[in-house]
Amino acid sequence: MTQVATYTHRFEPAASAAAGDTLLLLHGTGGNENDLLPVGRAIAPGAALLAPRGRVLENGMPRFFRRLAEGVFDMEDLVARTHELADFVAESAKRYGFDAKRVFAVGFSNGANIAASMMLLRPETLAGAVLLRPMVPFEPKQPPDLKGRRALVAAGKADPIVKPENSERLAAILEEAGADVTLHWSPGGHTLDRADLSAAAAWWREG
Ligand code: MLT
Repeated sequence: MTQVATYTHRFEPAASAAAGDTLLLLHGTGGNENDLLPVGRAIAPGAALLAPRGRVLENGMPRFFRRLAEGVFDMEDLVARTHELADFVAESAKRYGFDAKRVFAVGFSNGANIAASMMLLRPETLAGAVLLRPMVPFEPKQPPDLKGRRALVAAGKADPIVKPENSERLAAILEEAGADVTLHWSPGGHTLDRADLSAAAAWWREG
């Protein structure tokens, strides 16, 4: 049996057993497992929270996979790390006793990119995802089956890292795979604003 990678992480159980959903919180480059806890609590009050810290270091900054330059990904590492993280989620469901079929990613930037990669490579891991400033992680050779899964793509019109066409392409890839996709535009850049969080909370309530 292969060993599941260990992540430094935080886990907060659901407020009640009836709550049922778990948010997988995935920080951006240079972040850590604490960054998105308040965001997760604001989006889905009462849900369980699982927040790992990325295992790759870029000049001391934690990330979820290696990159060769900004927006240029080390594909071999991305694929390997995507599987590693998906295995950690499955293992954590057993360890903490949450429902593995009701895990939703909330990822920002680098964290959103590995969440998108997980939807494409390990679609069974996530019931849905809030992708905050994501980009297309790669063009899938074969579209996964994402029927019944939901995604929010929260993009910035003036994002200097992710061009609007790239956000639109990611939404299209997920939609073509059968996901129910909402594309939310903020007038701002790569930084999140209040409207992103309100959009995410509203998307969650609609689900
Ligand atoms: C990435 O490397 O995932 C993207 O360039 C976003 C970032 O982390 O800046």
